[in-house]
Amino acid sequence: MSQNIVILPGDGIGPEIVAQAVKVLEHLRDERGLDITMQEALVGGAAIDATGGPLPGETLNLAKAADAVLLGAVGGYQWESLDASIRPEKGLLGLRAGLELFANLRPALLFEELAQASTLRPEVVAGLDILIVRELTGGIYFGQPRGVRTLENGEREGYNTLVYRESEVERIARVAFRAAQKRNGRLCSVDKANVLESTELWREVVNRISSDYPDVEVSHMYVDNAAMQLVRDPKQFDVLVTTNMFGDILSDLASMLSGSIGMLPSASLDKNNKGMYEPIHGSAPDIAGQDKANPLATILSVAMMLRYSLQQPALADVVETAVQKVLADGLRTADICAAGQTPVSTTQMGDAVLAAL
Ligand code: IPM
Ligand code: MG
Repeated sequence: MSQNIVILPGDGIGPEIVAQAVKVLEHLRDERGLDITMQEALVGGAAIDATGGPLPGETLNLAKAADAVLLGAVGGYQWESLDASIRPEKGLLGLRAGLELFANLRPALLFEELAQASTLRPEVVAGLDILIVRELTGGIYFGQPRGVRTLENGEREGYNTLVYRESEVERIARVAFRAAQKRNGRLCSVDKANVLESTELWREVVNRISSDYPDVEVSHMYVDNAAMQLVRDPKQFDVLVTTNMFGDILSDLASMLSGSIGMLPSASLDKNNKGMYEPIHGSAPDIAGQDKANPLATILSVAMMLRYSLQQPALADVVETAVQKVLADGLRTADICAAGQTPVSTTQMGDAVLAAL
């Protein structure tokens, strides 16, 4: 039976980069026997403009029924003044919550060819291969109560709640332990247990379940130190597991180790490995519509989809090898271009990957 993929281009550079990834999927379907159907739907600002809300019921239903979802990016200047409850980002958060995608895998891998594109010295980042496992449906992103209230003296106060249940910590930690077992057997849990009770409990739960994974070496690090260590000596890490917000921040940081945020894919999985796949960069409204954005993170997200949700590891390898080949051939979009090199466009990069497949 065909597997159904819902395509959500979204906003900003989303449609341009997703178009390149769809070309890759079509190629795999037409030339490599990948049995898929694809269906496009609206999310984010595009959905606000068309329907008044960032996550139409139809989109959520399609995504729920799908085997996997490919998302570009959401957000842009024109929607920034909207009330927080109907901003484009709510569409993305609604999908994560609605599909129960609690496990966000963000690999930060340095393609050898891009060692020069990192702002860190090549010897610091060469060979980098870390995996950030970010909790995605809890923590301060979703905790209640939240809002802005007016105090008695008339001053306004904004507030959010950082809350984690033991079961939430346990399920994300288990994902991370299992990932570490398949990698180099080292897991670093990142918290702020010296200040925040919620993450003191987080640390306790990680320690408790660690006995189920005797082959994994566990360590703990405060998030401020982790940020510093990621820049100082990123190769000390194998798998990192952390809360929703710390993971958001550290994964952007880690992306620059790998040369460009335009290179990093991600997978957001539910308990059955059904997933939504998206580049970790945002909608980059400043370069939207200019055919300049790097489509490789989205194409690498397709590789993750093939591996985690569609059970096609060989095709995942094919896509990753093709990306490696275009980099080895010297093709660079503007974000990974060194001085003196001429950048290629989004479309040219997509076509090159297609040719390399
Ligand atoms: C990410 C993004 C999102 C997040 C935004 C767009 C809501 O930064 O996927 O990292 O904060 O999770
Ligand atoms: Mg982010």
